[in-house]
Amino acid sequence: MSGLEAKKILLGVTGGIAAYKSAVLLRELQRSGASVRVVMTAAAQAFIAPLTFQALTGHAVSTELLDPDQESSMSHIELARWADLILVAPASADFMARLACGLANDLLSTLCLATQAPIKLAAAMNQHMWFNPATRENCRRLEVRGVEIWGPDAGLQACGEVGPGRMLEPEDLLQKVVSLYADRPLQGVRVLMTAGPTREPIDPVRFIGNRSSGHMGYALAQVLCELGAEICLVSGPVVLPTPVGVERVDVETATQMQGAVMARVETCDIFIGVAAVADYRPLAPAPQKIKKTSASVNLELVANPDILAEVAALEQGPFTVGFAAETEGLEAYAEAKRISKGVDLIAANHVGSEKGGFESDENALLLLWDGGREALPMMSKIKLAEQLGAVITKRYRTVRG
Ligand code: C5P
Repeated sequence: MSGLEAKKILLGVTGGIAAYKSAVLLRELQRSGASVRVVMTAAAQAFIAPLTFQALTGHAVSTELLDPDQESSMSHIELARWADLILVAPASADFMARLACGLANDLLSTLCLATQAPIKLAAAMNQHMWFNPATRENCRRLEVRGVEIWGPDAGLQACGEVGPGRMLEPEDLLQKVVSLYADRPLQGVRVLMTAGPTREPIDPVRFIGNRSSGHMGYALAQVLCELGAEICLVSGPVVLPTPVGVERVDVETATQMQGAVMARVETCDIFIGVAAVADYRPLAPAPQKIKKTSASVNLELVANPDILAEVAALEQGPFTVGFAAETEGLEAYAEAKRISKGVDLIAANHVGSEKGGFESDENALLLLWDGGREALPMMSKIKLAEQLGAVITKRYRTVRG
């Protein structure tokens, strides 16, 4: 049993190069037991032929709104009623804009307007299109209406640029569909997390920061949310969209992060410190921009509060998970950190090597807890977050019931 038996999924395909992956996605959905019908926009047909999907589904692919022949096989209203779920993959910037406006100027947008089924969009576009304020605004409008946007993933794009915009891989999309119908093992569990870097001001325009992108924390927040948890994410400055369903609190400095965490920690069941919190901050940030008047400048630094250790030391505190980024002696240092900070689970990763770590899309983790360990090999941060989410769930249930 894979969880999609008897599920009727309408796969919408819009115009983007990722459309070639939609055929693989279709096969994955079918293999998991779903019954799938495909609707393509005109632009999608420039990238992949309807015949491909017809051969795979055994059904004619619907492409036209006002074609009497197509309407007689299954009208657009019947299709809209038939679907348990509409998944648009890839969802182009143009399609998202039309959906945000409530247009019904082709078959797929009409179906989305007519359906009662949940709609999920696997966004795929050039990174500048993704970051364009118009697209940002469209995403917000769609999310407010309950349309969930999956991805995009970051990495090398077909246009040669590197950044967010790649459609999630078919197997990742399949996982997301399956999890919609799966048990929610963290239902009712409240998770407080930190993610991203902190910025410690030197003067009004300069700060001490670090290379944390926030990807790992954000991916983990999304995974835990899909497992049913209520998530509050206290985030340092990152350029990442907030995962759907996650409450986000923006902070800049370690002291602000500590304040935001301590104000909420009493009502959480699990605390996960993913943030790369600066260990030190300038003792006295200059009130005005420091001038280039002397050959050298001394900055006096003072230690920041250790948020994770503070939470772990609370009496009747939450189940705690920490991260350890090390450049050498990974297991020994991580184990020492687990014990000294008193955390229930530590996720250790190598940084400063060629692959993985802060700015990479991939990572590997060594998970350590009292009496156990598990190594998660190098994989995308999204997949890694899924596996880490499963281990956190298991350890939390084992320790706290
Ligand atoms: O001591 P170190 O910085 O290596 O510990 C890393 C772990 O501790 C991470 O989980 C990080 O989020 C957390 N941490 C924290 N507050 C600090 C420093 C680290 O919560 N000031």
